[in-house]
Amino acid sequence: MLAKLVTFPYIKPTNKNVVSQLAQITSEQNIRTVKENTMQEHDSSPLTDYIEYPVEEMRERAESFYQDIKRRHSIRKFSDRPVPRDIIENCIKAAGTAPSGANHQPWHFAAIHSAEVKKQVREQAELHEKGFYDGRAGDEWLDALKPLGTDADKPYLEHAPWLIAIFSQKKGGIHAGEKNTNYYVHESVGIATGFLINALHNAGLVTLTHTPKPMSFLSKICNRPEDERAYMLLIAGYPADDATVPAHAQVKKSLDEIASFL
Ligand SMILES: Cc1cc2nc3c(=O)[nH]c(=O)nc-3n(C[C@H](O)[C@H](O)[C@H](O)COP(=O)(O)O)c2cc1C
Repeated sequence: MLAKLVTFPYIKPTNKNVVSQLAQITSEQNIRTVKENTMQEHDSSPLTDYIEYPVEEMRERAESFYQDIKRRHSIRKFSDRPVPRDIIENCIKAAGTAPSGANHQPWHFAAIHSAEVKKQVREQAELHEKGFYDGRAGDEWLDALKPLGTDADKPYLEHAPWLIAIFSQKKGGIHAGEKNTNYYVHESVGIATGFLINALHNAGLVTLTHTPKPMSFLSKICNRPEDERAYMLLIAGYPADDATVPAHAQVKKSLDEIASFL
């Protein structure tokens, strides 16, 4: 039988009891089968965790998020100060909430803390990067990288407390261990990686998005199965005292250059 849709009372953020209100509503509402005009029959539950902000507060939040995310920079000099594992775990959990094709969540995050494993990653990455910077990349690519000052030396792969190797999965499903086709894998893993970078920044850490070419050595070091592909390596930790931001990286296109409103 089809349940009637309940109009959900939006929670006002000014209410101090938002959390308890949310918990109460969540426990009171059961998953029901809903049929809407344009949707096929499926199991669902009322939207209980949406928070509506008054427009002025929304405006402030949008501005304040922009001001905060503007402070994210790719950092290439890390301190070896430790970062507790539970912080990394929560950031990965945040990444795991990202949207994905058919909700198959086609990603795996290998969080590397072991000095021995970091050493192996550095050795392999520098080996591959040497070939890249010695000419394999081609002149145009190397010219594009010059203003960033990058080269084949990657000491941060050992200095930083955490390396997070991100893997994409061609096969999978909504439950771990399934081997169905995954959809929009590249897009999904890219979005999850964006969430992760954002979560780490929000926690007060700095990151570097690193893509040693080729990256397949990461699969072996991290013991990942053959049907997973290394997607990216994120370095996370505190910046070194003398960390810098290349001028080239601070040039961001203006709103007019990146957006159109129709
Ligand atoms: C897909 C991707 C791959 C990247 N690969 C590398 C890399 O291998 N090494 C590196 O030093 N930076 C790498 N970067 C970082 C970019 O150089 C950096 O994002 C860019 O210069 C803008 O600087 P920002 O991140 O501080 O805004 C990569 C970034 C992306 C998105």
